[in-house]
Amino acid sequence: MATRMKLKLKTVFVLYFMVSLMGLIYALMQLGQRCDCTEHDMPKDRTISRLRGEVHRLQEQMKKAEMTKSPQKQPVKAPQPTIFVITPTYARFVQKAELTRLSQTFMHVPQLHWILVEDSPHKTPLVTDFLAKSGLTYTHLHIATPKDRKLQEGDPSWLKPRGAEQRNEGLQWLRDDGRDQQAAVVYFADDDNTYSLQLFEEMRGTQRVSVWPVGLVGGMRYERPVVEGGKVVRFHTGWRPSRPFPMDMAGFAVSLKLVLANQDACFDGNAPMGFLESSFLQGLVTMDELEPKADNCTKVLVWHTRTEKPKMKREEALQAQGLGSDTAVEV
Ligand code: UGA
Ligand code: MN
Repeated sequence: MATRMKLKLKTVFVLYFMVSLMGLIYALMQLGQRCDCTEHDMPKDRTISRLRGEVHRLQEQMKKAEMTKSPQKQPVKAPQPTIFVITPTYARFVQKAELTRLSQTFMHVPQLHWILVEDSPHKTPLVTDFLAKSGLTYTHLHIATPKDRKLQEGDPSWLKPRGAEQRNEGLQWLRDDGRDQQAAVVYFADDDNTYSLQLFEEMRGTQRVSVWPVGLVGGMRYERPVVEGGKVVRFHTGWRPSRPFPMDMAGFAVSLKLVLANQDACFDGNAPMGFLESSFLQGLVTMDELEPKADNCTKVLVWHTRTEKPKMKREEALQAQGLGSDTAVEV
């Protein structure tokens, strides 16, 4: 009897405990639940949606900016015309110095292809090594000036034209090379002149034949085409202005198209003094068609400098005693 009573009491106690526990759990669950407080959250929601709107607006702005920027980022630029520079050169004490000066100018000119033509029956090791180390785009050619046309030791420099065969060899290479579709310019740069970088940008737009002044030439401060109303009307020169083109070799450039369209145009190695430039140009253009550059031919951007021949008196004296400079050292 007593045990049954005990059991009942225990059951009642357990039941009571369970009910209170459930009550407690329910109360706790109610505490953790979100209350319906829409009113409190209103400003926060508005801020979020305003910020979302702002983000969206900025994204749209960025898209638009990208679209307008992209043509500047990758402009569809036509490649700039190549400048083919034809240079005759011959072996003498100052040759490497001249070529060094010239090549270091050319290094600063974009899209330049140097056609270096040796006045020699073969390519010399000095020029071959020099070009290989130059870092320039180049073509190495050679052709010897026939003996009867070559200046001999002691001849005055004006007696015979220089570099005619070599320039013609360069022109032949251009004609053989099948570059007919290319917009390009041909310039004849002697190895001893001084060239400003601006000169190359002036000539790059040549359509047929472009012209400009040359400094320190023909016994004058400068020679130049005289421009009136954008056209060349005559030439400022101190000697025989009646020549078809009284200009120095350094004072003009020709478009490759024109060179290719006139397959016979070349330099006449037998031309009388001062007529070498005319022998090439007269078949190509008229004075009226010349394109003046360098601010209507008012700026000197190239100088007809000439390098003094070094004296070797002491070297020769030492050589006679077997004490000359080491010939293995390239100068
Ligand atoms: C002037 C002109 O500036 C030259 O363009 C022109 O060829 C020359 O006159 C001429 O009437 O024949 P100038 O200073 O007297 O020039 O000539 P150089 O500089 O002695 O020679 C012109 C180019 O021909 C140079 O690049 C030179 O290296 C080369 N040359 C010279 C040879 O290839 N072989 C030679 O025997 C002499
Ligand atoms: Mn010269």
